[in-house]
Amino acid sequence: MMILRTAALATLAIASVAPAVEVAEFGKTPGGEMTHVYTLENKSGMKVKLLDLGATLMAAEVPDKEGKTADVLFGFDDPAKYLSDDNQYFGNVVGRYGNRIAKGKFTLDGKEYTLATNNPPNHLHGGGDRALSKVVWKGEKSDADNSVTFSYTSPDGEEGYPGELKAQVTYTLTDDNAVRIEYEATTDKPTVLNLTNHAYFNLSGAGSPTINDHVVTLYADHYTPVDDTLITTGEIAKVEGTALDFREPHAIGDRVDSFGDAEGAGYDHNFVLNKTPSDVEGLHKAATVKDPKSGRVLTVLTDQPGVQFYGGNFLKGQTGKDGKTYAHRSGFCLETQHYPDSPNKPDFPSVVLRPGETYTHTCVYAFSAE
Ligand code: GLA
Repeated sequence: MMILRTAALATLAIASVAPAVEVAEFGKTPGGEMTHVYTLENKSGMKVKLLDLGATLMAAEVPDKEGKTADVLFGFDDPAKYLSDDNQYFGNVVGRYGNRIAKGKFTLDGKEYTLATNNPPNHLHGGGDRALSKVVWKGEKSDADNSVTFSYTSPDGEEGYPGELKAQVTYTLTDDNAVRIEYEATTDKPTVLNLTNHAYFNLSGAGSPTINDHVVTLYADHYTPVDDTLITTGEIAKVEGTALDFREPHAIGDRVDSFGDAEGAGYDHNFVLNKTPSDVEGLHKAATVKDPKSGRVLTVLTDQPGVQFYGGNFLKGQTGKDGKTYAHRSGFCLETQHYPDSPNKPDFPSVVLRPGETYTHTCVYAFSAE
């Protein structure tokens, strides 16, 4: 009897502890730096993989309505691919400035700074080889929290940005199938900063041919219109009466053709969030996406003022993990962020970070199935 009870207790104890975070080598970058993959698991059947190169969210195995898991994230099998032109920031942390800065120029405290115009004529996602998506961060795992913290110190002037930036990003896999991303950064000189994660999702499983059947709700009455180089005009416009009105749920495919089929055309817009309260303190709802086939649901929560809804318009059939192909418009991103080109738009919420201040940003990607 006693033995039985002890055995039962031992089973209980095992069931209530998530397995330890595993670390494995992922191979060297072309420059000879070793990279590492961290695997997190929880008690609810979900698994997440993180990569120190680009502080990347590289895989998320998520149960569907029958409990069957599929990896819903885009990624690659080797580090060189993450540094190649094929990588459209799959799962990377992007910055220092996520999204675009017009003509790669901004003025702060009367001084003009010049950044790479890597998305001609504009600056995009932090620039070139030393953008935060291209460097190897230092990872540290916590078994107790089921989390990994990536840290990187960007020297003063790196990619043209002022100030030595000490940045860290913590990914936590919770037992209720949410990935919580917490960013923190400080600087020793005034600078601008807008970090985000560029994960691409297909809730039927990455490599599935379309997202047109995914049904999206965006908690936004307004968006920031852009010019033909995708730079915000400074205007805050109503979504009402446009293909950007996702206040009621709409399938992505319903109206995507209204953008035409020119290169890059489709959903690629920053939405101004209404700050609709969520059940997590301090965070508002950004988006809900449902895949009717698998029943998987992604809910995005944040404390940021905006979210870029990007429909994978620049995807061109890259070969990713396990030989899967990522077709045009077959994945979507929901990048919680400040508005594009904020350093040049005095009326947008400020992206200036000064010595003594701490930048913080939280984004939750919560999964469920129905
Ligand atoms: C972003 C941009 C898009 C595109 C992708 C990367 O989300 O808004 O226009 O540049 O990154 O391909």
